[in-house]
Amino acid sequence: MSHPLSYLDVAGAQAATVEPLLWATIAISVAVTAIIALLLAGGLWRRRAPAPAEGEALPPLERGVDGARWIWIGVGISLVPLFATLVWTVAVLAQVGPLPRNPRVTLDVTANQWWWDVRYDGPQPDQIFHTANEIHVPVAEPVLVRLHGGDVIHSFWVPRLSGKTDLIPGQTNQAWIEADRPGIYRGQCAEYCGAQHAHMAFEVVAEPRAAFDRWRARQLQTAPPPASEAQAAGFALFASRCGMCHSIRGTSARASAAPDLTHLMSRRTLAAGTLPNNPQSLTGWIENPQAIKPGALMPDQGLSAADLNSLRAYLETLR
Ligand code: CUA
Repeated sequence: MSHPLSYLDVAGAQAATVEPLLWATIAISVAVTAIIALLLAGGLWRRRAPAPAEGEALPPLERGVDGARWIWIGVGISLVPLFATLVWTVAVLAQVGPLPRNPRVTLDVTANQWWWDVRYDGPQPDQIFHTANEIHVPVAEPVLVRLHGGDVIHSFWVPRLSGKTDLIPGQTNQAWIEADRPGIYRGQCAEYCGAQHAHMAFEVVAEPRAAFDRWRARQLQTAPPPASEAQAAGFALFASRCGMCHSIRGTSARASAAPDLTHLMSRRTLAAGTLPNNPQSLTGWIENPQAIKPGALMPDQGLSAADLNSLRAYLETLR
């Protein structure tokens, strides 16, 4: 069974540090609930004074002399687990907080309504590239993530790997993630950010170093020129309709208001984790994005079937 968003299905260094504390908190909560339920049940089942007969006065109320003492004993007992979890929490925070020194991979994630721009840093300008809604990381290496808010406040969360960090306009927050085994870990915006907050997901693809390096080398390549008439028509359409928001490296489309599409077809999902990336959903998304994500900035284009076909023929070359 897969639990893509379960923070109990731990797959990374930070999540593993938090996990024992999490289970302890759950155990304490269950124990406290059980104790209270038992005391309550005991109180309900205890012997009660018989109801007075008609005309008879109520018997005088017996006041327990040490009622107040029991209250203080109760408060004292409650403080023990509270204080213990406080100390434990501070210790865990101190462990997961510090950022990795000299990370080999650094990326900048910018959250927008409702998608994620991911920029990979490199020593040279030609080694920097953007992708969207999909983060590749090498396994067992801490990756530094600088977080930016493009419009409103969002929150970066990959439950199986680490906790949440907000992305705030005008401020750069930093977080780190590390996956201890290969896999695909789903991430989700964790701060309500508007109508399509729920459709603001992404994936972290953790792979061995060699595979990660191959992916990176491939992402650095620019898009191939159109190779057929249909592709050329599709590109012309793209340049006039889509190029003012999207970017495809190696072409005249250089805008950054929407996801970089240079290697669109290499991604597993479309529309920020909303749709699987296949020809049917690609066509559906371009045809009618407002039906899939109402309020998204991508407008319905009203394209003819022929235009849609040529546009798709071109987009499918972006591998
Ligand atoms: Cu972005 Cu919620």
